[in-house]
Amino acid sequence: MLKILAFGASNSRNSINKQLAAYAAAQVEEAAITLIDLNDFEMPIYGVDREEEEGIPSLAHDFKALIEAHDLLVISMAEHNGSYTVAFKNLLDWTSRIEQKLWAGRPIFMLSTSPGKRGGASVLETASVRAGFMGGEVVATFSLPSFRHNFSAEEGILDTELAASFQQELEKVKAHLAQ
Ligand SMILES: Cc1cc2nc3c(=O)[nH]c(=O)nc-3n(C[C@H](O)[C@H](O)[C@H](O)COP(=O)(O)O)c2cc1C
Repeated sequence: MLKILAFGASNSRNSINKQLAAYAAAQVEEAAITLIDLNDFEMPIYGVDREEEEGIPSLAHDFKALIEAHDLLVISMAEHNGSYTVAFKNLLDWTSRIEQKLWAGRPIFMLSTSPGKRGGASVLETASVRAGFMGGEVVATFSLPSFRHNFSAEEGILDTELAASFQQELEKVKAHLAQ
């Protein structure tokens, strides 16, 4: 069975990106989903001196092993000041010290959402481009603007046009998996 690793790139307890990642992963039929919380991967702030003195924390190795144990990554990027959250960037930096191509050739469905009208479009762009340089293959992207207006836990994406464009991206993921 296809194994999906899903997470919101945020450490908010009620992360809207975690909700979107879980929703998107659940739309792929016949898959086993592992939904992780970045709070379980909290490490000291990355620093070259800290790495030299203390080495790479085991949580970074755990995260890398999780990536390698799954066939598809569904990641929803939270945007802080136009870019990555500190929680995600710290995890990215530590894990990249094990291997720069940390996404291990896995296909990625890269998403973002925010309460605002741009839906985290800036960080989605950054993350999508960057993932390609770090061993990932971004096969589809989707940004959901105005999360509280456009998403419900029971019904998913409420706006018809946004739901259609999500569906289009989801089909790209499925087509890739079917190859
Ligand atoms: C420090 C900070 C900076 C933020 N910067 C942005 C931003 O640049 N763009 C945006 O759309 N939302 C921004 N927001 C709002 C977040 O999108 C919002 O908190 C969202 O819930 C984050 O996703 P999460 O719930 O998955 O953590 C910011 C929030 C914080 C706390």
